Amino acid sequence: MKLTVTVIKADVGSIGGHLRPSQRLVKTIVEHVNLNRKGLLKDLYVSHTGDDVAILMTHDRGVGDPDVHQLAWKAFVTGTQCAQRQGLYGAGQDLLIDSFSGNVRGLGPAVAEMEFEERPGEPFLFFAADKTDPGAYNLPLYLAFADPMNSPGLLLSPKMSRGFRFVVMDVSTVDKDRTIELETPQDLYDLATLLRDPERYVVESIWSRASDEQAAAVATERLHNIAGKYTGKDDPVMLVRSQMNFPATGEILSPYHIGHYVAGAMRGSHQMPLMPVKLHSPVSFFDGPPIVSCAAFSVHEGKLTEPVDVFDHPFWDAVRSRVADKSIEMRRQGFFGAAMLPMTELEYTGISERLSALRKRFKLRPEPASKPRVLEPVGSDGRIVS
Ligand code: 13P
Ligand code: 13P
Ligand code: MG
Ligand code: MG
Repeated sequence: MKLTVTVIKADVGSIGGHLRPSQRLVKTIVEHVNLNRKGLLKDLYVSHTGDDVAILMTHDRGVGDPDVHQLAWKAFVTGTQCAQRQGLYGAGQDLLIDSFSGNVRGLGPAVAEMEFEERPGEPFLFFAADKTDPGAYNLPLYLAFADPMNSPGLLLSPKMSRGFRFVVMDVSTVDKDRTIELETPQDLYDLATLLRDPERYVVESIWSRASDEQAAAVATERLHNIAGKYTGKDDPVMLVRSQMNFPATGEILSPYHIGHYVAGAMRGSHQMPLMPVKLHSPVSFFDGPPIVSCAAFSVHEGKLTEPVDVFDHPFWDAVRSRVADKSIEMRRQGFFGAAMLPMTELEYTGISERLSALRKRFKLRPEPASKPRVLEPVGSDGRIVS
């Protein structure tokens, strides 16, 4: 049977700054969806990561279904009203447009969804990240789907060794989606060339070249493109199917041991390592480090099992401790150099305003400080060529 998995997430308010939604807010969202899901959804799982609430839904209505999207949108509107009543910070933060128009894409919430033929055993992973942007998934996806040093399945499994098709989006364009398709292994260097710039080029989806099935769907929304100014970090969700023609679950999870540096944390304007955390973790130190949680599911005829909290394992405690050390190391240099994002990505306007004021105060000296020395051409025998 054809199944659609849709996850829509939004930050509609949180306790104590940008830390975590209140239990009452999450309950309000769950109740709204449960009350209105009849005839629409097969199953539902609501979770939160940092200050973001994600509604994961299974159904048979295909991607971009207006009724499914509207259900989530209205749940977030109801949640916003609850956040306002409780005095939560940033009530309705990610609902950037006043009225819903058919699809939540471009309205503020992040969405990742895919439709596929359900396999007899259908494992998939649902990732949610807070205090970062969609490019945070570039490196882990590259390693899981294209690098045999991480994923031995690329050598061991004949189907996986046919490679994958990556759809990469240029998220700097605002009016229209600009995408490119690249196939591994032959386009590996082209793919690496794009993915090394995660603020501009973002993996949107990945497809098996052996079966043409979709393996991954990433939310590529960039809030500052929608709002025209900083309203919050994008905090992307992602769905990844595992096993058989796709990487094993462990191959997909393994790259998160790196704690790679991503854009985000405090005021969305820093470079900090990505910390894999347990489900429902809040954010703390320096509005970061950026965090990622992952729930593993199996699904049969649209019914979800209970989630396995994959980063709730002693192995990841050691990783978290190392990522905390990396975070502290980076924070020691404050706003200097690599610690803060480049000008084009700074989410607040304070620095550019200050720079334009200072620009007027710079003066050009009438004479160059020192005259440039004219070098005489030297021949192979060391003598000056006249
Ligand atoms: P099992 O033998 O436990 O099913 O594991 C198979 C596998 O390939 C895991 O990577
Ligand atoms: P959120 O996008 O998670 O709301 O974080 C905003 C922020 O700037 C925190 O410092
Ligand atoms: Mg917030
Ligand atoms: Mg957030």
